[in-house]
Amino acid sequence: MHKDCERIMLTEEQLRTRVKEVALEVDRHYQGKRPLVVGILKGSIIFYSDFIRHLSCPVELDFMAVSSYGSGAVSSGKLKIKKDLDKSVEGRDVIVVEDIIDSGFTLANLKTLLLERGAKSVIIVTLLNKQERREYDIVPEYNCFDIENEFVVGYGLDYNEQYRNLPYIGILKREVYEK
Ligand code: IMP
Ligand code: MG
Repeated sequence: MHKDCERIMLTEEQLRTRVKEVALEVDRHYQGKRPLVVGILKGSIIFYSDFIRHLSCPVELDFMAVSSYGSGAVSSGKLKIKKDLDKSVEGRDVIVVEDIIDSGFTLANLKTLLLERGAKSVIIVTLLNKQERREYDIVPEYNCFDIENEFVVGYGLDYNEQYRNLPYIGILKREVYEK
């Protein structure tokens, strides 16, 4: 385990098993469809690549980078798009893949935006869900793990752009982000 982690919350094995289970469930609902799978950069990349490899329906891949300066104390901000989609979502069934839902700001705004742009349907698939922290009304259609209110890293998730490549989800030691 990395020295900056307090403990491992989800092992590689737990991640592999649950991600497959959720992906197969999503796949069943998209038989005969051609969804556009939108990954939210950068946190979702590892989850995204594991997830899509269990889909048997024809998929198209696209990515977006957003910053949520609305989460935290100030909740009035709009979603800032740092990198937009290459493809149009008009008339498409969109599957948004996210690493974690915290306040819900990012996904609540993103879902509204994609529907405004004419998406036929938008569902959210998240790896982690911190229900306790929710401030915005958003419920993911698929969620791999409900987690406690701890700051976690690994499997794509970062702290100051570090730890994304850890193969497990670890709880970051407080001293790392409080110093
Ligand atoms: P929301 O808009 O408040 O739901 O924020 C979601 C975003 O906050 C995620 O996409 C992450 O980038 C970040 N985030 C929230 N909690 C954590 C965590 O425990 N570890 C790493 N990133 C987190
Ligand atoms: Mg993120």
